[in-house]
Amino acid sequence: MTRVGILISGRGSNMMSLVQASRASGATYDIALVASDNPEAPGLAWAAAHDIPTYAQSPRGMPKAEYEAKIDAALRGANVEIIALAGYMRLLSDDFVARWRGRIVNIHPSLLPKYKGLDTHARAIEAGDATAGCSVHIVTEELDGGEILGQAAVPILPGDTPDTLSERVLAAEHRLYPTVLADFATL
Ligand code: GRF
Repeated sequence: MTRVGILISGRGSNMMSLVQASRASGATYDIALVASDNPEAPGLAWAAAHDIPTYAQSPRGMPKAEYEAKIDAALRGANVEIIALAGYMRLLSDDFVARWRGRIVNIHPSLLPKYKGLDTHARAIEAGDATAGCSVHIVTEELDGGEILGQAAVPILPGDTPDTLSERVLAAEHRLYPTVLADFATL
């Protein structure tokens, strides 16, 4: 079993789907830790209620390197082998990425390389795209730029708003991320 640590900042719905998949038969990974930069993240309480070790550290009032060293220590203390970002809203430093080279994955709500960064759904609608989707990729120093491990597409329907589209994409995220992580964890 590969030990996965998940970083979240908010509701953590992708984290929940990873936890659920890790408990199904045939799983190749288990969730060793759910950590957050936001002690109030609703996902932390959910994880704790589901018997997953949790760790929270606000970055406020300390240099980024010190904050990241604490996160790093928590992950290593839990013997984490792979980090899965799931709605983690902070940029990891180049140093952190280098320390975990090739072992951090992220889910991004667009069909990369389209729409790196924020507001992906509004940008896809604005562009008149017929499809949107999500991508799981390796995290490198380049924002949303690492190797793509898997993608899922959904249609953009007439009248879609960023909210209605994000719901459709999120449902696809919940299917895609556990599947891609399951394969990645066996590499
Ligand atoms: C998702 O849309 C994910 O693609 C993006 O942030 C959002 C996180 O949602 N990276 P959740 O916290 O997993 O519910």
